[in-house]
Amino acid sequence: MSGAMSGAMSGATSGTTSAAVSGAGSAGSSPEVRVTVRDLGKTFGTQTVLQGVNLDVHAGETLVIMGGSGCGKSTLLRLLIGSHKPTSGSIKLLGQDIAEIGDVAFDDIKRQFGILFQSAALFQSMSIADNVALPLREHTNLAPEVIEMMVKIKLELVGLRQHADKFPSQISGGMAKRAGLARAMAMDPKILFYDEPSAGLDPVTSAEIDQLIKELTRNFAVTSVVVTHEMDSAFTIADRMLMLDGGRVLKVGSREEFERLRAVSDADVSGLSEDDQIIRQFLRGAAQGPITRRRSADDYREDLLGEEGNEERVTRGAVPTKRI
Ligand SMILES: Nc1ncnc2c1ncn2[C@@H]1O[C@H](COP(=O)(O)OP(=O)(O)OP(=O)(O)O)[C@@H](O)[C@H]1O
Ligand SMILES: [Mg+2]
Repeated sequence: MSGAMSGAMSGATSGTTSAAVSGAGSAGSSPEVRVTVRDLGKTFGTQTVLQGVNLDVHAGETLVIMGGSGCGKSTLLRLLIGSHKPTSGSIKLLGQDIAEIGDVAFDDIKRQFGILFQSAALFQSMSIADNVALPLREHTNLAPEVIEMMVKIKLELVGLRQHADKFPSQISGGMAKRAGLARAMAMDPKILFYDEPSAGLDPVTSAEIDQLIKELTRNFAVTSVVVTHEMDSAFTIADRMLMLDGGRVLKVGSREEFERLRAVSDADVSGLSEDDQIIRQFLRGAAQGPITRRRSADDYREDLLGEEGNEERVTRGAVPTKRI
């Protein structure tokens, strides 16, 4: 399914309602749902980082998760890949509840998703080709020559076939990201999770990575969940977008809906709900708006209440455990 098609199937929902679902849109045939999150919550100690998160992501669709620093984006990704356990709620990948299935079944699911985190996390002591081959050697019984061929195909996909024998220290940051992407693609995953794929890259390299993500999504019907706060990148790759704020979902909607919200003029902004005003300010990277008003109110409160106030406030961007 093409990205454009799945984009057209978007379903805007409020993330905290039970109707969080979906994008099934056009004439009868629902697309396969590959990621399902229901009423997800995560607390670290006394700090509630995520609360009431609901979302669905379909086959061949790219969902971009946005939100300010510390709002819980990476935590959400870590929950989705099973490296954190939820405090409440459920996560299904490829139709299976990852908390309920055993380790063997989860290993099988793991083989069907790829991860590209910020650092690309390549093994420094291995060549680029060996880094890409690693998941195939670990998780399959394929013959070495078959693995070699598959590695070449993946490296060709990301434009690195000529650099297969280089080591991570011998390539640029953008090349490392592409190598990380080739490794994430090694097992032909159904789902790809990305955390800030273009962070730290120059604008052109960043645009190349975006293009690559779009091509992979389109050509292989991969479902992509991408965390980013680079707006150009978000609007380039997203079919649907999700805005997190203080650990809760403010909005899930199509890229077009978010584009419309970004385009609302200053004259019309007062007609928007508080949540939509927050999203608009974030999307425009504007210095003035509810996000900055809230921050200065926090600072003032902190200044007045000192340590006592801090205990209750949790971190900025996270959900306060007590409302004041
Ligand atoms: N393992 C952990 N133990 C305790 N607190 C954590 C842990 N992981 C994350 N947190 C806290 O959860 C909050 C959200 O962190 P998270 O990394 O999800 O934010 P983020 O939205 O990805 O931010 P950024 O845009 O800066 O990457 C932060 O306050 C962070 O300190
Ligand atoms: Mg993060």
